[in-house]
Amino acid sequence: MSAAALAVVVAGCAGPFPQSALRPRSDFGGAVDRLFLDIFWWAAFVFVVVEALLVIALWRFRHREGRPTPKPTHGHTALEIAWTLAPAVILVFVAVPTVRTIFATAGEAPADALQVSVIGHQWWWEYRYPDLGVVTADEMHVPVGKSVRVSITSADVIHSFWAPALGGKRDAIPGRVNYIAFRADSVGDYPGQCAEFCGASHANMRLHVIVDSDSAFRAWVAAEQAGPGLPARGSLAERGKAVFSRNACIGCHTIQGVSPGIIGPNLTHGGSRTTIAGGMFPNDSATLAKWIADAPALKPGSIMTRMQPPLSDADIAALVAYLQSLR
Ligand code: CUA
Repeated sequence: MSAAALAVVVAGCAGPFPQSALRPRSDFGGAVDRLFLDIFWWAAFVFVVVEALLVIALWRFRHREGRPTPKPTHGHTALEIAWTLAPAVILVFVAVPTVRTIFATAGEAPADALQVSVIGHQWWWEYRYPDLGVVTADEMHVPVGKSVRVSITSADVIHSFWAPALGGKRDAIPGRVNYIAFRADSVGDYPGQCAEFCGASHANMRLHVIVDSDSAFRAWVAAEQAGPGLPARGSLAERGKAVFSRNACIGCHTIQGVSPGIIGPNLTHGGSRTTIAGGMFPNDSATLAKWIADAPALKPGSIMTRMQPPLSDADIAALVAYLQSLR
């Protein structure tokens, strides 16, 4: 490998890569990381031993003028036993921690763990907190230092939930529930994404797990449990609510007390989220307006199609004001 290529590979391990499993921020992430390092060092050891033997053999038995052809040897019982046993022993050292980690990360959690149900959709994530009566999308909030038990399923095709800093990925399979459990050890915003090809916008199916301090988490839950804000009389947002209510929006989106749709993300507190469209874009007015006008142009395959007949610019502006007011 040339020096330049090596530099590229080494540089690839540094830098600001928030979606890395190599900087774990939970017990689950730590267990996976330790196992990775464990196996990495065994592999490095095997590599060094094998390459050293190869180089020694190449050097010692290289061709030299006047040297007779070496005598072929056949069968060396001690050597054959050694190179059969050594890999078997190394495999035991790899297998034992692997199996231990598989069981340790099987999704068991203390009875008082926060329950979160994750549902994959083409192409966004829904989060339900059954004990708290909260339903949200794209951004999952959890408290720091507390066990969280996540049940994972899908509403359509197979997806895979993965927030690398917090732990291993797990498939979201329709008609089946898989579990992970973790306890985040630092506050932060940990990005992740769908890790199983699930259609046109698989790569656009992103997510954020936001680990809050205890008080921030309680404030978030309280805000989510409250009903949606009522727009002020005569405001643009109030007009937007009327636009929302007389259009197809209500067929797909829930806004508590306004509409019952369940095909798209629940928008009761949509304005409080930092991203839209499956974590793909910032939740700002300009992007939201573009998204409402023509979602498939921003996200290939989006199930939210262009409105027919198209909404007027004034209606879109009102709708944006209304959605942004839902905090
Ligand atoms: Cu969902 Cu890939």
